[in-house]
Amino acid sequence: MRVGLIGLGVMGYRIGTNLVKEGKLHVVYNRTTKKADEFGKQYGVKVAKSARDLTSDSDVILLMLSDDQAVNEVVNEIKSNMNGKILIDMSTISPSLSISLASDVMKVGGKMYDAPVVGTSIMVEQKRLTVLVGGPQDGFQSVKELLSSTASSVLYMGKNGMGLYAKLVNNLLIGTYVASMAEAFNLGVNSGLSPEQVAEFLAKFSSARSPTSELKAGKMASRDYSTQFATKHMRKDLEIIDREAQKLGVINPMSALALQLYRMAEYLGLSESDYASVLEVYSRKQKR
Ligand SMILES: NC(=O)c1ccc[n+]([C@@H]2O[C@H](COP(=O)([O-])OP(=O)(O)OC[C@H]3O[C@@H](n4cnc5c(N)ncnc54)[C@H](OP(=O)(O)O)[C@@H]3O)[C@@H](O)[C@H]2O)c1
Repeated sequence: MRVGLIGLGVMGYRIGTNLVKEGKLHVVYNRTTKKADEFGKQYGVKVAKSARDLTSDSDVILLMLSDDQAVNEVVNEIKSNMNGKILIDMSTISPSLSISLASDVMKVGGKMYDAPVVGTSIMVEQKRLTVLVGGPQDGFQSVKELLSSTASSVLYMGKNGMGLYAKLVNNLLIGTYVASMAEAFNLGVNSGLSPEQVAEFLAKFSSARSPTSELKAGKMASRDYSTQFATKHMRKDLEIIDREAQKLGVINPMSALALQLYRMAEYLGLSESDYASVLEVYSRKQKR
């Protein structure tokens, strides 16, 4: 089985590294050629000239791309070539778009899975990702086997789109949680507690501590916004949640408010920074 990977960003590069170390990666492609050439050189893997060329040379195609536009463009480029092949999209995109692309792929005789991931770049390196899979149940076992090279849990969530809906459930929670952490952190330091004290408390002793507070509290204390998960991606996910909530007819006041805070962080130039940088929105304190 020849496996091809399209998208060598923060996540894709590391996922590719895990696959190649288990001898499971045949060919890669990235829009910016430099990253693909670097990967090819580092690991001795074939580099395709286009997404279409990669598809011709693969039986299973993995995607790890930024957003709806990227996935839509790439799948439209490769779909006529998908007969008898499996497409596994690990990007976080709109479930409705993914469902429609899966139907296009099925029409030409291929299979598509949505397989978004829970976990950051560090967790990819530790092979501790959770993958949430939606798509045809027959064939799930081979998807699971492949993704186990980079994930500790690969969960079947149901038909096409259900992996993505599960991912949105997760990101609704962490998006509002980290925005709330920033608000709590800001209250703490303005009261006279030191940033380190507040961070230690949030990470280790708070009754609402979590893996996310462990990961983000120290970053807030040191204002280290090196990117684990970019603000632009959290904003994008909350926008998807907003649209999907409207379609489902459910209310989402908390995530809608958090979305505005991440947009403000982007206005401060923090789009590419880690989403813990939402703290900076609070740090612009006006004198009264
Ligand atoms: N980072 C995380 O911790 C994390 C965690 C969970 C889920 N995710 C999700 O995983 C996905 C990837 O995240 P990431 O952090 O790896 O993003 P990233 O570093 O920004 O990488 C994005 C990738 O998409 C490619 N791309 C963007 N637009 C494209 C287009 N129009 N055509 C073709 N390729 C295009 C980029 O190519 P270029 O190199 O040419 O720009 C790059 O390879 C996102 O959906 C994100 O929400 C990320």
